[in-house]
Amino acid sequence: MCGIVAYIGKKNAYPIIIEGLQRLEYRGYDSAGVALMNGSIKVYKKKGKVQELIDFIGDKNLSSTVGMGHTRWATHGKPDDINAHPHFSNSGNLAIIHNGIIENYSTLKEALKRMGCSFSSETDTEVLVQLIETIQKTEKLKLVDAVRSALSKVVGAYAIVVMDNKEPDVIVGARKSSPLVVGVGEGEFFIASDATPIIQYTNKVIYLNDEEVVEISLEEGIQVTTISNELQDPEIHELDMSLDQLEKEGFPHFMLKEIYQQPITIADCMRGRLNAVEGWARLGGLEEYANKISNARRIIIAACGTSWHSALIGEYLIEELARIPVEVEYASEFRYRNPILGPQDVVILISQSGETADTLAAAELAKERGAFVYGIVNVVGSSIARLCPSGSYIHCGPEIGVASTKAFTGQVSLLTLMALVLGHRNGSLSNSYYHQLIAELAQIPNKVSQVLNLDDKISYLAKEIKDTNNALYLGRGYNFPVALEGALKLKEISYIHAEGYPAAEMKHGPIALIDEKMPVIVIATNQSAYEKIVSNIQEIKARKGLVIAIIAEGDKEIKKMADYYIEIPSTIEPLTPLLSVIPLQLLSYHIAVMRGCDVDQPRNLAKSVTVE
Ligand code: AGP
Repeated sequence: MCGIVAYIGKKNAYPIIIEGLQRLEYRGYDSAGVALMNGSIKVYKKKGKVQELIDFIGDKNLSSTVGMGHTRWATHGKPDDINAHPHFSNSGNLAIIHNGIIENYSTLKEALKRMGCSFSSETDTEVLVQLIETIQKTEKLKLVDAVRSALSKVVGAYAIVVMDNKEPDVIVGARKSSPLVVGVGEGEFFIASDATPIIQYTNKVIYLNDEEVVEISLEEGIQVTTISNELQDPEIHELDMSLDQLEKEGFPHFMLKEIYQQPITIADCMRGRLNAVEGWARLGGLEEYANKISNARRIIIAACGTSWHSALIGEYLIEELARIPVEVEYASEFRYRNPILGPQDVVILISQSGETADTLAAAELAKERGAFVYGIVNVVGSSIARLCPSGSYIHCGPEIGVASTKAFTGQVSLLTLMALVLGHRNGSLSNSYYHQLIAELAQIPNKVSQVLNLDDKISYLAKEIKDTNNALYLGRGYNFPVALEGALKLKEISYIHAEGYPAAEMKHGPIALIDEKMPVIVIATNQSAYEKIVSNIQEIKARKGLVIAIIAEGDKEIKKMADYYIEIPSTIEPLTPLLSVIPLQLLSYHIAVMRGCDVDQPRNLAKSVTVE
């Protein structure tokens, strides 16, 4: 996923753009570049992070009031200075930055070569700028018209900004399947991949829709049209996200800040949706469709990564509390396997970013097949949120760390509310248990704070196992998806190989891995199947495995057996994941820091995978 920032106004563009790129680095960062209008377009681009671009530019005089910048996460062409964006057209009159994939770029490239175009990079983006220029010259069009015409020939995903020497006071943007936000300031405008580079200048934003094109000039202001040139009347949203939300607020990393935000973000997710005093749970986005969902043939939940783990917990919650059949699918598999799907099905899409390409495609497939589609998303106005006719935001605020933490507990909180609402409505949940769950759910933010108070002990534990090359995570019931999530956290930020398993699966293979070098993290907070977990731990100990147990307060038996334990507040079993995941988030964070890893921007990863 690449980062895009553009500016047109009265201020010096370069500092605005470069700071915006630094805010967007979490989206992808194998190269960066800027284009600035100063008589003609000047481009500076460099492999590496934004800081390397800044060092490369040095103290060059870059006074300009129109410009754009890009951070790249390579899809076509290796990360290097040539493939970095912006890309010039052959004449040098046009420059483009792009986030997405032009799927028919090789066909277009061959046709353009036959028309005399030459190419310096391996990117699909350079093909697009050559196509725009070729159309502009052949049909004698102004920039925005040439962009519209070119995009009508493109297959794939794009968010682009284009500049033209012949129209120095204009910038043109367009999007399809990749996000693009327009910032509306006082006599100045911004275009960016999301609101984070814009928010310190204005909280007024326009979310471009798919196949919309925006032309911005200081004289004319903003004009939004469709690719087929139908004038649009875009809504201006007022964001309530402040810049300090984006700062680390004293934490060394965004990830740690976001782990510590969870008492607040879980409470925010339930605000207006849970009332322990009056004893009710409500989900606005669900009420209108509760009957349809309750009477569905089944609920399918499609997601990726951490969101897929929260989907698994959703399956356990909804089946236990609401007795509605649930299936969980990797969105990337679901979208290609021609699933049996129809109007009697409900498909829930879970996505923090709301831009994950596979999850977006799964949503589109479900809609095409007439299924009822419901989105559980964090980023307001994101593509998946706008594609789904109904849904709920988890209200966790911007999650900057690539490793998802508060979004996971936000998703699980929302799924818990959904199961409560559905179970209460369809009578599968007894009144007393309904009220018991509500009362306990209201206590969860406070209990999460208590777990965070164990951070020093968890950090000590991290030191003990930080040099391991492998790790196993085991859990049963609601803690099985938590084991998967804990393993993902460890591997994606510390680069240690880790696997999550249902604890009972040990004897079907993984137990062969156990030796004194293998730390086994056992999430053992369950009341049900407790004795089974005790015997799993005995099996590990018998093979000299190192046992780290996450136990519920008051547990005496496992405390004696484990090499290390983290004792967390107890809760009702369906709410366990909201507490048992916290020590695993902190454990992976501390290990990654001790190993000198880039916690917020782990290698090879991007915060939102908008490519397939
Ligand atoms: C989680 O820590 C990862 N960053 C990744 O697995 C992520 O959950 C996945 O890419 C899905 O992203 P989404 O929730 O934004 O769709």
